[in-house]
Amino acid sequence: MPVSESITRHYADHVAAQQVAWESAMEDEGFDAVIIHSGSQVISFLDDYHYPFRPNPHFLAWLPLTRHDECALVIRPGEKPVLYYYQPTDYWYLPPSDPDAWWADHFDVRPVREPNEWRTGVPLGREAYIGDAPDLAGEGDLNPRGLITRLHLARTRKTEYELACMAEANRVAARAHLAAAAAFREGLGEFEIHHRYLDAAMSDDAELPYGNIVALNEHAAVLHYQQRERTRPDDSRSFLIDAGATMHAYCSDITRTWAREPGEFADMIDAMDALQLGLCEAMWAGADYRNLHLRAHLDIAGVLSEFGVINVDAQTAVESGLSSVFFPHGLGHYIGLQTHDVAGLIADERGIEIPRPKGHPFLRLTRVLEPGNVVTVEPGLYFIPVLLDQWRATGDVAAINWDKVEALSPYGGIRVEDNVVVTTAEPVNLTRPAFEAAG
Ligand code: GLY
Ligand code: MN
Ligand code: MN
Repeated sequence: MPVSESITRHYADHVAAQQVAWESAMEDEGFDAVIIHSGSQVISFLDDYHYPFRPNPHFLAWLPLTRHDECALVIRPGEKPVLYYYQPTDYWYLPPSDPDAWWADHFDVRPVREPNEWRTGVPLGREAYIGDAPDLAGEGDLNPRGLITRLHLARTRKTEYELACMAEANRVAARAHLAAAAAFREGLGEFEIHHRYLDAAMSDDAELPYGNIVALNEHAAVLHYQQRERTRPDDSRSFLIDAGATMHAYCSDITRTWAREPGEFADMIDAMDALQLGLCEAMWAGADYRNLHLRAHLDIAGVLSEFGVINVDAQTAVESGLSSVFFPHGLGHYIGLQTHDVAGLIADERGIEIPRPKGHPFLRLTRVLEPGNVVTVEPGLYFIPVLLDQWRATGDVAAINWDKVEALSPYGGIRVEDNVVVTTAEPVNLTRPAFEAAG
């Protein structure tokens, strides 16, 4: 993995910030030490191959060790964190390389050859264990809820190191998005486009933050479309790609929609793009994300009305639930070490949930935005047969222009998604400059 100085120069401050956040959470919850386990390989049933390994995100919050199972990190107040660095003697698989100074200098690194060797370092007082390794905690406190809630809340405010990683994850993904768009223009199929993306991102499938959504034509109406057709369609009209990248485990999550020919669908993409930019500019500290989501509904209903897809005004479409037929997911979510990052619904350290607006069950972020938050902004507009059929059966049938729906359904749908940093001043869009630099 290339190591960029623009990222590593922030790392010492990041580790120091982690230490402050964790010590504060440990003190509040009465713990003398926390043991964070990186995770264990999971073997497939009746076989000896393992699934792609995803480390514990609480481990990754400290360390850029994305391929490192069976490590343990011990945090104690006022002490340099101790890393039990698992380096087995093996000839079936390549063991992890020796620690790199840029991160290792901030830890007391103790190489271990056996998975459980770190246990010689406990007991440490009243300790908590964080992770999902089998039998991690024994009788001890495993993933204590109060501690986890405090740590999740802390993770919503990103450090400069984290922002630098996410900016780079956006640059990598933008480059790959443009390669995928070129492949669409060449007339390639979904499977081929996906592989062009992987090549341009220099990424394995398993290293992506989530499975790429590579959807031609009607497939763009399937929100998390997961198949990749091997054959090329006869008529490749539209292309929706939702695909990200990772840098030191930090994610990007980006969607673009393209039309082959100018026309009404292409104009609709432009309208959605303009609407999405307006929403990105509204991601100010102090804004309630629920209100931004509801504004997105109103804006999208405006586009539906303007293009003659619906026969009612925007306000009526939102109040009647009609806008949700065309935009059935949330405006966005926190993003960081996880694509759908933690604490999006959490009010405070007690872990109480902030309810979603009535009628919006899929919204993943209901908090008031704070400086340091990174959010996605991903309005969509789709022609989804199952939702249209439901409306036809139970809603105001005359509110929809069915001829228009029939004409546009072969294009599937539109989503535009960027990653935006909330600051003490204007929001900072990580995605748009990445496309400009890559283009
Ligand atoms: N790629 C999944 C999402 O946008 O939430
Ligand atoms: Mn996405
Ligand atoms: Mn997203």
